[in-house]
Amino acid sequence: MQRFLFPRWTNKFLALLGVLTAAGGAYAGVLFLGATSPITLNTGYRPEQPVPFSHALHAGELKMDCRYCHNSVEKSAHSTIPATQTCINCHSPKTAAGAPALSAVHSESLKLKPVHESWRTGESVDWIRVHRLPDYVYFNHSAHVTRGVSCVTCHGRVDKMDIVHQAKDQSMTWCIDCHRNPEPHLRPVEEITNLAWTAGAEGDSEEEQKAKQLALGKKLKAEKNINPQTNCAVCHR
Ligand code: HEC
Ligand code: HEC
Ligand code: HEC
Ligand code: HEC
Ligand code: HEC
Repeated sequence: MQRFLFPRWTNKFLALLGVLTAAGGAYAGVLFLGATSPITLNTGYRPEQPVPFSHALHAGELKMDCRYCHNSVEKSAHSTIPATQTCINCHSPKTAAGAPALSAVHSESLKLKPVHESWRTGESVDWIRVHRLPDYVYFNHSAHVTRGVSCVTCHGRVDKMDIVHQAKDQSMTWCIDCHRNPEPHLRPVEEITNLAWTAGAEGDSEEEQKAKQLALGKKLKAEKNINPQTNCAVCHR
């Protein structure tokens, strides 16, 4: 294949071009930071948490359902981060007498120190937000999960993540693409927290899986009258 080569006379402009691009980049960067929250579009954003909590362990290996901890996800716009009490159900510190409590898994672990501290003082653990849309966007978890959009579609395989990262860019295009064409992303509501679920059967090729998912998506959309809106006021109210 023939490559396009800039004519030789452009060489002397290259240095200037370099300066302009750098300046333009910095300018664009400032605009971008001003316009959007730094973490909104940050696919892969993965802050260090005060406690090395692992989803791969709790949701993966121990097979805890997402809703055990994120228990408001089907009922409200927000999917709350669990209160310390939820952790204490299993990670109770030693009791005052020094005898381990009933469910004191790793009761003396240094990794759990902030959890135990929070339990003692009543102040919540300072978890750092991984996802955050700008304030002018309205999002609602229950509107999605009760209609059969799974956590995995928007957050990726959290059950395999030791540290949660942002799996999708969460841009307006991303939202609207699915609102226009939800069929590839709809599943039975019983399966929304089963991140490994697919519409296909074991051994199906990728095409077979896709075809089955589309057929199911169309069926669910019609049956449940699922019609995501794309007018501005839905997300900017
Ligand atoms: C044992 C409790 C527990 C279970 C079970 C659990 N989570 Fe979490 N989740 C947490 C905690 C604690 C955090 C905050 C710390 C962090 O980000 O790792 C969190 C954070 C998250 C975040 C990032 C939130 C943000 O800050 O933007 C997502 C997304 C998430 N969980 C999804 C899931 C999904 C999906 C499942 C099921 C596969 C699940 N979680 C199961 C406790 C849990
Ligand atoms: C249903 C019980 C259960 C709940 C609820 C639970 N965990 Fe765990 N967690 C475990 C078990 C079991 C292990 C140990 C697995 C092992 O060591 O093999 C563990 C291990 C850990 C570890 C590793 C400790 C170490 O020293 O290696 C941390 C940190 C942790 N959990 C944090 C949390 C946090 C934070 C919460 C609340 C958001 C939480 N867990 C809720 C059962 C639970
Ligand atoms: C349609 C996409 C979508 C689905 C489905 C979805 N989430 Fe989210 N999730 C988001 C977005 C977008 C945010 C950021 C919300 C914000 O900043 O207001 C978020 C934020 C979160 C948070 C941080 C707290 C919050 O509400 O801002 C947690 C925890 C979370 N999701 C867990 C889950 C779990 C568990 C499921 C499945 C039961 C799930 N999500 C399904 C898109 C989704
Ligand atoms: C993977 C598909 C998918 C993605 C991604 C997605 N949505 Fe949706 N959205 C849906 C479906 C399906 C519905 C439900 C439509 C219905 O009930 O008819 C919905 C409904 C909504 C509603 C209506 C809630 C109500 O109160 O009626 C809002 C608001 C919304 N989405 C905002 C967003 C925003 C903001 C984003 C991006 C951050 C987003 N959605 C990303 C599929 C998606
Ligand atoms: C399905 C949800 C959804 C719909 C519908 C939607 N938006 Fe957005 N919009 C978003 C999200 C999410 C963001 C934030 C993305 C980001 O931070 O870049 C956004 C950001 C914006 C921004 C700020 C862009 C920037 O770069 O700062 C403007 C302006 C905007 N939307 C206008 C509109 C208009 C006009 C419409 C109707 C034609 C519309 N939106 C429809 C979800 C939506």
